[in-house]
Amino acid sequence: MDLEIPRHIAIIMDGNGRWAESRRQSRIRGHEQGAKSVRAITRECARLGVEQLTLYAFSNENWKRPRTEVSFLMRLYQRYLIQERKEIMDNNIRFINIGRPEVLPQYVRKELRKTIEMSADNTGMLMCVAINYGGRVEIVDAARQFASDVKSGKQNVDDLDEELFSQYLYQPDMRDPDLLIRTADEMRISNFLLWQLSYSEIWVSPLCWPEFREEHLMEGIEAYNRRIRKFGALKT
Ligand code: IPE
Ligand code: IPE
Ligand code: MG
Repeated sequence: MDLEIPRHIAIIMDGNGRWAESRRQSRIRGHEQGAKSVRAITRECARLGVEQLTLYAFSNENWKRPRTEVSFLMRLYQRYLIQERKEIMDNNIRFINIGRPEVLPQYVRKELRKTIEMSADNTGMLMCVAINYGGRVEIVDAARQFASDVKSGKQNVDDLDEELFSQYLYQPDMRDPDLLIRTADEMRISNFLLWQLSYSEIWVSPLCWPEFREEHLMEGIEAYNRRIRKFGALKT
């Protein structure tokens, strides 16, 4: 049977800390190993012909973690953005981000900008990293921008509908995820893509993110192929 490849896959990469703790290692080791899974899964998605891959790397709420863990994560993103540039270019991947980059350390913003600019003309898979991202804040930011456009006369309140509203989200052109994968057996959304996940299929893996590899992604895609998407209508 030919599998249908979801056009947009979004992933909540969870369980780095648990993976490390179960091996009596520091949580930081889990994040390091998690970066290897990012590489493997990104490459595989590009190979399979996934159009867009959105990865949840750091939530607005993750600032509540100990300062040492947060600063390690920021250094890890910086390192990742530098080291993976070649891989991104070799795979013809266009790299973008969602979230509020303004409050990220300058050294992360700089590498983010560089990777985005360098890959801007690539024509393959779109890779979107959610970093300092929150679904509620995204909606509030959109509402605020729309209100400001009404105030300045650029928009009319009566024209607001779902399509116009979505033009105010961080990446207006991105399609809604077809498949949401979350690792580490956690059955919640944790403030990820609240607007865009309305009709996404959700699949949860019991594995922690550092051990999640190509064959596990395939399990998710197979599960997706067994789903019947109805979008509120009747099965066709
Ligand atoms: C996900 O793993 C990575 C980030 C949120 C940055 P966690 O760090 O949340 O791992 P657990 O949930 O504590 O095991
Ligand atoms: C969600 O994981 C955020 C990322 C994967 C970046 P968390 O580990 O922060 O989510 P909760 O706190 O368990 O809901
Ligand atoms: Mg977690």
